[in-house]
Amino acid sequence: MGSGIALTAAQSGLKVWQLDVKADQLERAKAYHRKTLDRAVEKQRITRADADAALARIQYAGSMDAARGAGWVVEAATENVEVKKAIFKQMQQAFPAPAVLATNTSSISITDLAAVVGADAGRVIGMHFFNPVPVMALVEVIKGLATTEETTRRTVELAKAMGKTPIPANDRAGFVSNRVLMPMINEAFHAWMEGVAGPEEIDQIMKLGCNFPMGPLRLADFIGLDVCHDIMMVLHRELGNPKFFPCPMLRQLVQAGRLGDKTGRGVFEYPAK
Ligand code: CAA
Repeated sequence: MGSGIALTAAQSGLKVWQLDVKADQLERAKAYHRKTLDRAVEKQRITRADADAALARIQYAGSMDAARGAGWVVEAATENVEVKKAIFKQMQQAFPAPAVLATNTSSISITDLAAVVGADAGRVIGMHFFNPVPVMALVEVIKGLATTEETTRRTVELAKAMGKTPIPANDRAGFVSNRVLMPMINEAFHAWMEGVAGPEEIDQIMKLGCNFPMGPLRLADFIGLDVCHDIMMVLHRELGNPKFFPCPMLRQLVQAGRLGDKTGRGVFEYPAK
């Protein structure tokens, strides 16, 4: 998602550093940026000059030092609270006020993350994008307990400047999007496990019957089964309701390393990937 956020920002005229501890991930990001911009030029959505200018606005680096002085950071690491807290402590040092410290978390409490930066909690906010970021219109904006009005106002402005529609949600596990989406996906796994229908039929029924662009099981593969599992665990832990416990079928696929598109196999198979 970080690659999508970086590309969207660059296409909106912002100068961007994409940071990752893994060099191969940065290479994949570069390739994705080039391919997506080339496609937009082919489709005559943008000119070659615009594509080149957008690409030139993105720099790639392995550490936060490279981006010192940036006015805005969007953390988009794995959905693990301890990993995110460690990154937020580094962000606090590398990007002093008035920089905004945003997180693209899809379920973790903003208040909890903000607590690790102490007096800087006012400039922490949730800025939740959706995949694929260049295509999806929404940014869910989540204030933590200490988030200031100024941080919120600036976040709404930035989301609009990136061509997105910012909508506020309160700081409860999963916010609105995943509080509603993930139990539906989990229920699709239960329906499959119980033999209500096969995965293709479940997805076709939801696509044709509810006009979803992707069925829930295809969408789970697209999001990543590990991500869906982690989000369900956060909902289960934070909301304390057994209905949020991940379906055994979902858990088993994750244990088997079948994580969806990114591993070439999840519920369905993606040989080309
Ligand atoms: N990056 C940039 N552009 C992309 C893209 C990507 N990764 N994937 C697709 N696109 C673009 C294509 O280039 C194409 O653009 P053009 O019209 O200019 O050609 C357009 O999107 C449509 O793509 P396709 O024709 O290839 O395929 P499609 O019509 O089936 O659409 C889709 C693909 C947009 C992904 C569509 O299937 C869809 O909307 N799926 C549902 C996605 C969704 O629900 N996302 C939210 C997931 S939840 C989440 O992200 C948050 C979380 O916390 C888990």
